Amino acid sequence: MATTLYDANGHTCLMFTDLVEEEHGEVVQTNQFLVVDHGHGALIDPGGQMTYGELYLAINRYFPPKQLDYVLASHADPDIVASVGRWLTASDSRILISRVWARFLPHFCQAGKTAGRIVTIPDAGMPIPLGQGTLLAVPAHFLHSEGNFQFYDPVSKILFSGDLGAAMTSATEAAGIVTDFDAHARVMLPFHRRYMSGNRACRLWAAMARTMDIEWIVPQHGPSFRGKAMVARFIDWVDGLQCGLDLLTQDDYRVPAMSAAAR
Ligand SMILES: [Fe+2]
Ligand SMILES: [Fe+2]
Repeated sequence: MATTLYDANGHTCLMFTDLVEEEHGEVVQTNQFLVVDHGHGALIDPGGQMTYGELYLAINRYFPPKQLDYVLASHADPDIVASVGRWLTASDSRILISRVWARFLPHFCQAGKTAGRIVTIPDAGMPIPLGQGTLLAVPAHFLHSEGNFQFYDPVSKILFSGDLGAAMTSATEAAGIVTDFDAHARVMLPFHRRYMSGNRACRLWAAMARTMDIEWIVPQHGPSFRGKAMVARFIDWVDGLQCGLDLLTQDDYRVPAMSAAAR
């Protein structure tokens, strides 16, 4: 089922939260997004093989998938864009991804599938024309991927933040918004401590984010942060976050004992 994040004057943002089958906790819940502006469409972080069929059917109700202009990938993780080959087959779209990952992306596809269809995003980010408007690819490197972008929509003032702000929740929770920030921060913390690279990247991102007009931060996993006050709380939380390299000690680099075999 789609959640409408924004719909006015020929511009629509839709979110899909429940396309991953939740079996035995083995698969992480993911959010996918469709932005349409005056008959042109961009799919953001469409996911892997298991979301492809359901997402195709889901967006087909709102927009003909064949006519997608872009697939936008925040980074190259399997839950972000492992389905890229199928989307390139199903549509005439181009795929936009960081220059860091552009030459790795074809490994998700059959040989030749990506020829002439990858648009490389430079480290500084770039504007992405869509219909009568423009999306922005905004740098979020090392949060968590080395070449990582968030996608900002100036019409809805939504920042699609990829894995930054992610929480491992159910699909039902993911369709909602965060109301108790402190309680939610406790849910987010384990993921961010392990998957984000370090406070230096957090601080630099926070300083940039404070210069933007953001109404809603919507991550790729879990619920979103809506309204200026909640957005500001999230940015402040990221600013002070200790994670990744900040937390490493020698204990994290010890040769395992031979008897500690994986089961
Ligand atoms: Fe990721
Ligand atoms: Fe993710």
